Amino acid sequence: MNILVLVSGSGTNLQALIDAQRSDSLPGSIAAVVSDRPGVYALERSRAAGIPALTEEADKRLPKEQRRIELSNRILTIARNNKIDLIILAGFLSILQGKFLEEYSGRIINIHPSLLPKYGGQGMYGERVHQAVLAAGEKESGCTVHLVDQGTDTGTILLQRKVAVLAGDTAESLAQRIHKEEHSAIVEAAKLVLQKLTLQTEKGKSK
Ligand code: GRF
Repeated sequence: MNILVLVSGSGTNLQALIDAQRSDSLPGSIAAVVSDRPGVYALERSRAAGIPALTEEADKRLPKEQRRIELSNRILTIARNNKIDLIILAGFLSILQGKFLEEYSGRIINIHPSLLPKYGGQGMYGERVHQAVLAAGEKESGCTVHLVDQGTDTGTILLQRKVAVLAGDTAESLAQRIHKEEHSAIVEAAKLVLQKLTLQTEKGKSK
């Protein structure tokens, strides 16, 4: 099973996947990493692990809708060329649209730092999520790994991990506690989907 990881930032979730692959606990291999932002640390992590690292920026000259589709199509081409089975959005900030979502339906997963459906949707990313959780006086938060559909943070939930919101928490301290949970959650969810896809492929072959 070939995996494509999409990133926009520091890539600690990508690192968790690389580490899982190294310890043979991932039933697949990361074939490439794509960032929509140049120079992010996630690209260094992939190069250090010997994984091809590409930068694909959105074309800012295009109107919003077209811009999203054009970037999604470029990523689709990369996925096809690398015979990708599973796509993992590990802190990827661009919104994907168009035939990419249809062709890879059920095979794209995303990690979000809240207990969806709470604190998700467009504009809810990074520190904003944790600030909203604190402002609402929530007693718990966490992270969610879900399938990606046409909406933003709306796809079928694969798994969630909860953490307590502690007295005196800041957005930063809460984010850190959640981040730790994300690293095992993303690996576990990737395993679940990869095992399911492997079974489907084997069934397909035996028909
Ligand atoms: C994580 O909090 C993830 O939930 C969100 O983006 C962040 C990425 O962190 N979608 P990292 O780049 O993997 O460290």
